[in-house]
Amino acid sequence: MPFAHITGWGISVPEPILTNDDIAKMVDTNDEWIRSHTGIRERRIAREDQFPSTLAVEASIKALQVANLAPTELDLIILTSSSPEYIFPATACIIQDQIGATKAGAFDLLAACSGFIFATNMAAQAIRSGSIKNALVIGSETLSRFTNWKDRNTCILFGDGAGAFVLQASDKPGGLLSAVMRSDGSGADSLTLLGGGARHPATEATIHEGKHFIQMDGKAVFRFATRVMGQAIKESLELANLKLDDVQWIIPHQANYRIIETAAKYLKTPLDKFVINIEKYGNTSTASIPLATVEAVQNGKVKPGDKIAFVGFGAGLTWGAMIVEWTGPIPAKKPVHPEQYRLFARLRSFVRRAIRFIEGFFSRKEL
Ligand code: UT7
Repeated sequence: MPFAHITGWGISVPEPILTNDDIAKMVDTNDEWIRSHTGIRERRIAREDQFPSTLAVEASIKALQVANLAPTELDLIILTSSSPEYIFPATACIIQDQIGATKAGAFDLLAACSGFIFATNMAAQAIRSGSIKNALVIGSETLSRFTNWKDRNTCILFGDGAGAFVLQASDKPGGLLSAVMRSDGSGADSLTLLGGGARHPATEATIHEGKHFIQMDGKAVFRFATRVMGQAIKESLELANLKLDDVQWIIPHQANYRIIETAAKYLKTPLDKFVINIEKYGNTSTASIPLATVEAVQNGKVKPGDKIAFVGFGAGLTWGAMIVEWTGPIPAKKPVHPEQYRLFARLRSFVRRAIRFIEGFFSRKEL
């Protein structure tokens, strides 16, 4: 049975920064309250011309560069997002087209902030089954589009960004060692974005009622998160036959510094074992785990051979954890340049659209 290794990683964040002081000009809050209750100092906000696919494509190309893998070698792309571009088509297909992943199946996975754990596990299991060799998993968000900038309970929390992992099959042991995925729909009301779906299709009334904005029972989510984080890590460690001491790093979903502190206490583990970068980006939902991971790799914390416990939780309710032995890039045989495929991808996409147009023109004539 092949192992599923993480061999590439990349992130992309929009440049515009929104500080706590900026938010204090919009709602009745202040920097001190936000920092002491959440750990957040600032977050990134996508420009008008940036979408989940825009950020995802940048993060994906970087991840493919690290893995030294051509997009044409990808068998599978899973995009997980709490702010996808449409209900359909899947944002993953837009990314597939733009990076030139000509043979990849692409779909979106919705598990809110647990999405990156769920998607990475699904891609890894497809590799472990032997049915595919190379997969791209992306978490990408422009949550700012669904944020009610008049609601101080939520607007202080969320930010935009994207992160991607490349997963590859190898006979060498390592990579994903275990994973748990859990859900409890009885808590579905705790964190929602109700408008625009089949139950509340967009109407003047849904807009008037603010159903197109994120709504959250912050306290309920807080209690749930502190309960499940430690448990999920323990379960995934057990499945991997490991103890907490065998793990060098815990990389949690970055939702609230105090949630992470509580998990550390529950696990009786020092807080410096946790990778935390919430102060710079806020809660970027599906992107928060890869954003924290890639920064930890770039600043030399995470090294090949390290064992990492990843843990996430979010709307659904959903939660999950996975244990990974960090691989690092596979030594390159011959450099490939994934970024160069973008030009071919654009050309290919243009030609395909043109052919579709011409086909449509002649089929209309035939009718
Ligand atoms: O990916 C998962 C997504 N969501 C989460 O993880 C959210 C989990 N929950 C949380 O992070 C926290 O519950 C919040 C940060 C949302 C809120 O923190 P809290 O410590 O639970 O505050 P609270 O809701 O209990 O409010 C305490 C007080 C209230 O005032 P009173 O009633 O005590 O007078 C609030 O009205 O703080 C007030 N408050 C604020 N004050 C200044 C609530 N939000 C703000 C604010 N600025 N932004």
